[in-house]
Amino acid sequence: MTTENQQGRLYLVGIGPGDPELMTCKAVHVLEQTAIWVAPKAKENGNSSALQIAASQVSLDKKTVLELRFPMKKVRLGQEPDPEVVDGWHRAAEAVQAHLDKGEDVAFPTLGDPALYSTAFYLLATLQEQRPEIKVTIVPGITAMAACSARVCSPLGLGDDVVSIVPAAFDDDRLRGILQTFDAIVLMKVFRRMERIVALLDELGLTDKAVLIERCGMDDQRIYTDIRETLGKDLHYFSTLLVRKKQVGGSSRQ
Ligand SMILES: C[S@@+](CC[C@H](N)C(=O)[O-])C[C@H]1O[C@@H](n2cnc3c(N)ncnc32)[C@H](O)[C@@H]1O
Repeated sequence: MTTENQQGRLYLVGIGPGDPELMTCKAVHVLEQTAIWVAPKAKENGNSSALQIAASQVSLDKKTVLELRFPMKKVRLGQEPDPEVVDGWHRAAEAVQAHLDKGEDVAFPTLGDPALYSTAFYLLATLQEQRPEIKVTIVPGITAMAACSARVCSPLGLGDDVVSIVPAAFDDDRLRGILQTFDAIVLMKVFRRMERIVALLDELGLTDKAVLIERCGMDDQRIYTDIRETLGKDLHYFSTLLVRKKQVGGSSRQ
């Protein structure tokens, strides 16, 4: 899609959690129609998982792919982010803006759904600092937690369950409070943190209520129904832990 003499449109496109068949028709359509793509990657010489997933459904022929680095570091909202992270956002925004200024549309394929812990919204916010009127369309995607819950055939929330979604980098006290308070908890970004998390779940008697799904929907997917087996393992970044305290049963079945 290209429009003459006016700003191009930015598409933030959720491409699902890895299984190419979980890309929506709309995501495929928008990516097919957009000639400029931004492929986010964490390391200079690394690969972009989002690009690999998107390219499995949409040919890269005639596409211009801007592989841009977004350093993977903790961002705490309300606090000044690491300068390297901010630098990444600004470089990406500049590269994208140059195309938008030429009237060219740009697509940013992002893992899962753009609304859930995606770099896509940092890019959008950085662009909006300079151009609040930027034209943007968000294409929702299937989240990793939806795919993980489907894979283990367990609901994320049911009945009067209150569900919490947590990026697991929280400190122990905050994490403990969340694990105690909610009925169902989705823990994301758990890789390299399983020792601490298993210790907390053990302390709260919740270890047997947890299941970990690694690389859900991908060739080398693994499911740990005994999460103690993850200890000492080099888990992939694409790992999600689901904790559900209540089971469906008896007259409460619905
Ligand atoms: C930056 S967040 C992106 C979440 C994504 N926007 C979504 O809607 O699911 C990355 C985290 O998503 C989870 N994740 C992404 N893909 C996954 C997969 N295929 N299997 C399991 N977890 C996955 C992991 O917890 C990972 O640390």
